Amino acid sequence: MRDATPEQTPETVHLADYAPVPVTVTHLDVSFQLDPKATRVSSRLTCKRQGPGEMVLNGEGLKTLSVTLDGVPLDADRHTLGDRTLTLHGAPDEFLLETVVEIAPADNKALSGLYMSNGMYCTQCEAEGFRRITWMLDRPDVMATYDVAIDSDLPVLLSNGNERAAGVWHDPWPKPTYLFALVAGDLVATSDSFTTMEGKDVALNVWVRPGDEDRTAYALDALKRSMAWDEEVYGRAYDLSVFNIVAVDDFNMGAMENKGLNVFNSRYVLASPETATDADYANIERIVAHEYFHNWTGNRITCRDWFQLCLKEGLTVFRDEQFSQDQRGYAVQRIGDVMNLRARQFREDAGPLAHPVRPESFVEINNFYTATVYEKGAEVIGMLRTLIGAEAWDQGIALYFERHDGEACTIEDWLAVFEEAAERDLTQFKLWYSQAGTPRVRVTEHFSDGLYRIDLAQSVPPTPGQPDKQPMVIPLAFGLLDREGNESRPTEVRELTTAGDSLTFDLAEKPVLSILRGFSAPVILEFDRPDADRLTLLAHDTDAFCRWEAGRVLAKDRLMRAISEDAEFDAGWLDAVATLAQDDNAEPAFRALALALPSEDDLAQSLHEAGIVPDPERIHLTRRAAQMAVAERLANALPDLRAANATPGAYSPAAEDAGKRALSAGLLKLQTMRDGGAAARRVYDTADNMTDRMAAFACLLDVGDPDVAAQFEADWSHDRLVMDKWFMAQVAHATPVDAVGVAERLTKRADFDPSNPNRFRAVIGGLTAGNPAGFHRADGSGYAFVTDWLLRLDPSNPQTAARMSTAFDSWRRYDADRQALVREQLDRMAAADPSRDLAEMVARMRAA
Ligand code: BES
Ligand code: ZN
Repeated sequence: MRDATPEQTPETVHLADYAPVPVTVTHLDVSFQLDPKATRVSSRLTCKRQGPGEMVLNGEGLKTLSVTLDGVPLDADRHTLGDRTLTLHGAPDEFLLETVVEIAPADNKALSGLYMSNGMYCTQCEAEGFRRITWMLDRPDVMATYDVAIDSDLPVLLSNGNERAAGVWHDPWPKPTYLFALVAGDLVATSDSFTTMEGKDVALNVWVRPGDEDRTAYALDALKRSMAWDEEVYGRAYDLSVFNIVAVDDFNMGAMENKGLNVFNSRYVLASPETATDADYANIERIVAHEYFHNWTGNRITCRDWFQLCLKEGLTVFRDEQFSQDQRGYAVQRIGDVMNLRARQFREDAGPLAHPVRPESFVEINNFYTATVYEKGAEVIGMLRTLIGAEAWDQGIALYFERHDGEACTIEDWLAVFEEAAERDLTQFKLWYSQAGTPRVRVTEHFSDGLYRIDLAQSVPPTPGQPDKQPMVIPLAFGLLDREGNESRPTEVRELTTAGDSLTFDLAEKPVLSILRGFSAPVILEFDRPDADRLTLLAHDTDAFCRWEAGRVLAKDRLMRAISEDAEFDAGWLDAVATLAQDDNAEPAFRALALALPSEDDLAQSLHEAGIVPDPERIHLTRRAAQMAVAERLANALPDLRAANATPGAYSPAAEDAGKRALSAGLLKLQTMRDGGAAARRVYDTADNMTDRMAAFACLLDVGDPDVAAQFEADWSHDRLVMDKWFMAQVAHATPVDAVGVAERLTKRADFDPSNPNRFRAVIGGLTAGNPAGFHRADGSGYAFVTDWLLRLDPSNPQTAARMSTAFDSWRRYDADRQALVREQLDRMAAADPSRDLAEMVARMRAA
């Protein structure tokens, strides 16, 4: 059993210990003789000494057949072949190192390295998967050009770069191992082309299994829009003659930015109106853009080491969010991104897994592809832009591309270009990269004798390993409204840099403060203020984020008081919600967001922070009661409102129609609370697209419709991606009492294949994320069920097991009995000799 905390385990890697390699690799010649059980990988590394020391190559699970240096087999005294290292003693200044190894892709269920999925060969090398393919310096600061030859009978043989002959690829751009990719299979492409602003013609292909060709159009379209956008907005053009995207069914993550050969989880490529929802389309658009944008932010300029992960991920998320805002509308996209940040990153920051945007140590790097590195990393960049202004931002990023093209960089390199461009010292700003925890900003207002004063106080809570914090630079965008709701002072940005500060204004009457406009900093605002002000903002604020936020704060306040004090839902609040829902001047997507109540998890966290121990069942029931109250208030208006937001004609995934469908779905949920599912049944039976069908399916599951699950299955059992939705929805929409039983029953089906991460996440994640009251059942059955499955998956796929284990990271919020039940399961996992991945997560969650 492993009892050490991550800090004490011998495998812990520290940022402070970074040292460049003594011998680097500048070119790699690698050939593959593909075979499911015995693939032979022959590689020739062009090596060059850069300093004193031994060359230590990485390898994992390789059957080593030969090692030669400059054509001569290596004597025993000139190398040491370890389990996971190959050390060369006294290597010359320049040499060729050749190795031949054998691996078994068909046995690789970890989906890292070279593996098989439905008869197709596929690789995933980030972060440290290349070492499972052949001996190499498997670290991002070693950048080499590649020649790859693939020997196989399969018709389609792909790798990075440009194709020189069938199955022979050359990548002229030096890259780290993690960007290597190989795909071989019976695949078909949907093709197109793009001419770059530099006049280069690029062939574009989306490769899928035969039969899926009719679902590739949207991904291809998103790719072309991404290419044009990166040219327009960042001046970045593509740099090879081909860009390939491959869809694979078995994939741990969403997608991967391998140079010229992006590999995607098929759920983020394949879409047709009949099988994909609006959310799927939005995800595809965003992820295609994200991986494409990595070509500059990640591939051309990469990370020196994995501690710098946010250098590429935070920046690329920032860029894909900008892209989505441009494609879909700023306000709605921003609100959605903030909701996601709060749901995942604020939660992470508030618990035992809190860590800085740039962590300082890790055991398993795969455990640090987190909401903090990604989403908070993107927010930090947004703040940087706000602080230095758009012009200095544009100059700084241009300088970054110019100065660091072809390099492996650090956050210091990144900040230096903006310090130069803005002529500003960013020392205090850099705390955003090193201090974990979500800052709190307390706002108090005072008005007397024509003087309006805002007092601001900040604090950053303690997090694991960081008991004391320094004040941060917090950009606060704000504006003022008069009592009638007219904007009396437009948006400006002030910086809070000390523990406390004040702003004063000479005004005849007390204004309504609209603060943290556009969510200008990833902080929690503590602002006790009159409801009247919130209602004014909800009705009139020009800043869409603050307008939405005012409604959210009102709703949360009502829900929390109903949960903790049995308070009634007052007419004032219900009227405001109803008014906005019916406000034809607001766009439907915004109204849909305003109609949605805070999630059960959000409420649990807020109650905990208010010193109230959350009861998941009570939260669930109260939230439903609130929905019912809204439904009653809107009652007779619901059918007409739905009709007014119908989307007749052919399905279009564009934001405008998607917004109407989102509002209709919210309204249908309310209507279902009143009619027992009659309207939802009509929608289900007549829907011509998966968005409407899934919305109705969820409603019918909510009311316990006895037939709908079987009907859905009869229609869709042939379709893996649609069936993932079916699995998940049944667990998420089961009553809390039934949820574990439903999940358990589903795992017994023949088509529940836990080695497929999408299917595993559908059922296990359907419980942990989709049905919190069921997961947190007081008898502990949810905790035991999830632990059983994590332990079953861990030996074959530690990465996904470790990722899913984060479901337990909120355990300290709950009552002593639940805490004891979770601790029992964490202890059980720790004692089960888990993978390094899962062991690290469990140790961190137990420690705090
Ligand atoms: N580089 C990552 C994929 C990755 C993550 C590989 C972890 C290995 C380990 C990729 O660029 C990425 O970030 N993908 C995201 C989606 C994106 C839109 C945020 C993913 O896969 O979830
Ligand atoms: Zn990424």
